[in-house]
Amino acid sequence: MPHKIINVVGARPNYMKIAPLMEEMKKASSVFSPILVHTGQHYDKEMSHVFFKDLNMPKPDINLNVGSGSHAEQTAAIMIGFENILKGERPDVVVVAGDVNSTLACALVAKKLHIKVAHVESGLRSYDMHMPEEINRRLTDSISDYLFTPSLGAGDNLRHEGIEKEKIFFVGNIMIDTLFNCRKLAKKKDIPKNYGLAKKQYSVLTLHRPENVDNRSTFISVLDALAESSKKVPILFPVHPRTKQRIKSFKLEKYFKHIGDTVKSNEKNIFFLPPLGYIDFIGLLLNSRFVLTDSGGIQEESTILQIPCLTIRRNTERPITVKCGHNLITGSKTEDILKAVDKITRENNYRFKTPKYWDGKTAKRIVKVLKDV
Ligand code: UD1
Repeated sequence: MPHKIINVVGARPNYMKIAPLMEEMKKASSVFSPILVHTGQHYDKEMSHVFFKDLNMPKPDINLNVGSGSHAEQTAAIMIGFENILKGERPDVVVVAGDVNSTLACALVAKKLHIKVAHVESGLRSYDMHMPEEINRRLTDSISDYLFTPSLGAGDNLRHEGIEKEKIFFVGNIMIDTLFNCRKLAKKKDIPKNYGLAKKQYSVLTLHRPENVDNRSTFISVLDALAESSKKVPILFPVHPRTKQRIKSFKLEKYFKHIGDTVKSNEKNIFFLPPLGYIDFIGLLLNSRFVLTDSGGIQEESTILQIPCLTIRRNTERPITVKCGHNLITGSKTEDILKAVDKITRENNYRFKTPKYWDGKTAKRIVKVLKDV
């Protein structure tokens, strides 16, 4: 009998981590019978459907359609829905990825039903328990049976927490499998041209963390820096739905231009874009001069694409991107962000190294381990 594996996706950063695994498992159909469950944490077309198309992913076999809510509401709704699925399907393993609410909710349900849990992208730590992601990843790791780590440092973190070394598998970064699969197509599309911009003449911005956008004065402190930076290098900003809501409720529309408006030197040039699919976003990133972000995955993608990165956060759970990439951690103060922009635009001989096992073969390594469950 093939191993029955439930692969879980819920929110935007999960799709690129599960797509290559589903593909590998489908190839080995005598060994695996994979099922794809979408919790519905993200549900807008731009936050979900587009990614299935871009990543050539099969439609979810089951969608729990939980939607948005407070952390408790969302986590509880996923747990109730997922428990019903597990009772019916009784899989051999549940695979969860990353650090979103769906990750923890599904891992917890599986563990209590004595079903093995595999955590992809295990062992990352920001040591900042104010971030919901840090809580999600620590708790998920503490109950997982297979901990698949993206870097050697992530394995060290787990061992320091007392996790048995037999459970830890250093497999590399699965996001890079997806990046390699899609890079050629993204290059071919010449995305900046759609916005009337030439390669390397703009920067890209993503911003959605509660710590940056949920507090009006912090958000303004960040936007003031971005406005200043955009006078020299225009900014293209695909806006996350959460951030869009905050811009409206905090009445911050004055900071932004719309696509079709012209770039004017010595003026604010932050261009408001809808959220982009994976291929279009990578197309924008790989042609940019630098990226400003509070995302986790973009720090990793920029390391491989050799794009300088400014991380608008107090810390990172991905220190390897500081060591191997060109990632500066800026915090959210206007003057600190501007100093980092100044530094990054003046330098021109950046050095990048490829971290071990960020080679496009991570899904193969994971599947090799799961063959023996
Ligand atoms: C979630 C993850 C975060 C990840 C991010 C990527 C958690 C705790 N956070 O944050 O780690 O970096 O996804 O995008 O799991 N909304 C929509 N349409 C959607 C989804 C959300 O409009 O398809 C709006 C809703 O108003 C919702 C808000 O965005 O309340 C926030 O969504 P939520 O999933 O709670 O958290 P994210 O900020 O997206």
